[in-house]
Amino acid sequence: MDRIIIRGGRRLEGRVPISGAKNAALTLLPCALLTDEPLTLTNLPRLADVDGFGHLMNELGVATTIAGARNGTDFGRRMTLTAERIASTTAPYDIVRRMRASILVLGPLLAREGEATVSLPGGCAIGNRPIDLHLRAMEALGAEIELTAGYVRAHAPAGGLRGGRVTFPIVSVGATENVLMAAALARGETVIENAAREPEITDLCHCLIAMGAEIDGVGGDRLVIQGRDRLHAAEHRIMPDRIEAGSYACAAAITGGDLLLEGADAGAMTAILDGLTEAGLTVTVEADGIRVRADGPLRPLTLSTAPFPAFPTDMQAQFMAMLALAEGTSVLTETIFENRYMHVPELARMGADIQVHGRTATVTGVARLTGAPVMATDLRASMSLVLAGLAAEGETQVLRIYHLDRGYERLEDKLSAVGADIERTGGD
Ligand code: UD1
Repeated sequence: MDRIIIRGGRRLEGRVPISGAKNAALTLLPCALLTDEPLTLTNLPRLADVDGFGHLMNELGVATTIAGARNGTDFGRRMTLTAERIASTTAPYDIVRRMRASILVLGPLLAREGEATVSLPGGCAIGNRPIDLHLRAMEALGAEIELTAGYVRAHAPAGGLRGGRVTFPIVSVGATENVLMAAALARGETVIENAAREPEITDLCHCLIAMGAEIDGVGGDRLVIQGRDRLHAAEHRIMPDRIEAGSYACAAAITGGDLLLEGADAGAMTAILDGLTEAGLTVTVEADGIRVRADGPLRPLTLSTAPFPAFPTDMQAQFMAMLALAEGTSVLTETIFENRYMHVPELARMGADIQVHGRTATVTGVARLTGAPVMATDLRASMSLVLAGLAAEGETQVLRIYHLDRGYERLEDKLSAVGADIERTGGD
């Protein structure tokens, strides 16, 4: 099994190109199901999850072609997806269990074909993660839902989905995305109350609008969609990955470094950048990206994760690694997912002092971390171990790095280009 080996203690300095956003890509790819004309996505990151989603689209009958970026590199690929005809309306267990985001084909398939069968995703490393909100939202658009043999079978009424009112009891990124895509092709008006406001949702709205959808309230928590009979061809550039950018910002912080996060969008990262500033980093927005510079000791923080625009749960683990070396005691509270502290015992093995009580983690800064073999458990947890390894004395081996390949494009290349001593090796 591949592993990443890091010899820590090097200061990182230079430019890190930020890739297209994984979570935006995973909701933009299924948009192709909404039209028989081609959808071209540019700035597509090369990630296991994106390739997995492309494979799912092929299974459903979508033709895909992929090319390097126009500037000749294959950073930021272009993918054209054409769903002239839908060959299957089933997302099978084998794909869904590996990639939870597969549930995002439910809304588009129901809207276009009047039916969809999607495997229940099952458990997940960061908590239970049910899909009830997705299903209730489809019912609000007239769908009938049946759960049998581990599958969700959904049918639209005769004449197709109709507009409806969806009021989410809690904010869900995925459920908001699913209903947005379905509503774009439903008959009449759909109103979504308590919609998620994550920048990836705004990116989705922009793509749908380019395809001919009519959406009011973009960026807010009340979205109003006028359904269309059909959508058409479009080209859309995927937004930069704010979580990848935030992760490299933590790499600058934890190594006392100075990194320019090329192409990062500060507007999508306010809570992350505020946290970095409060932790003592100098953050400047420059013409070609965001510069993060460590000038002195790291200061402790009190942070709570919450839906956008508050601090994202997807940055909690990386901030925890950084704060393990701060001068003082930090308090982090995770309000989105239960069981999202699986990196804590691994960080502790590297010398971090972290106590977890329920949803709150108390991080008492230590003077140094030491390298150790550690095991990645989920995507962002894995990144927190890489960050700790960059700062630790000696060698850190991160195992189970397939998690990292799901969400960080060319991690070792990007880190070694700015001075890290990091390599990937095959192992047992
Ligand atoms: C998305 C992101 C993920 C991020 C999360 C929160 C993608 C592919 N993934 O995940 O990286 O961590 O947003 O920002 O974009 N919930 C229910 N019922 C549902 C759906 C969700 O109870 O039907 C709960 C979840 O268990 C969780 C909360 O709602 O406690 C928020 O989850 P949600 O926003 O839906 O996360 P995802 O869309 O799965």
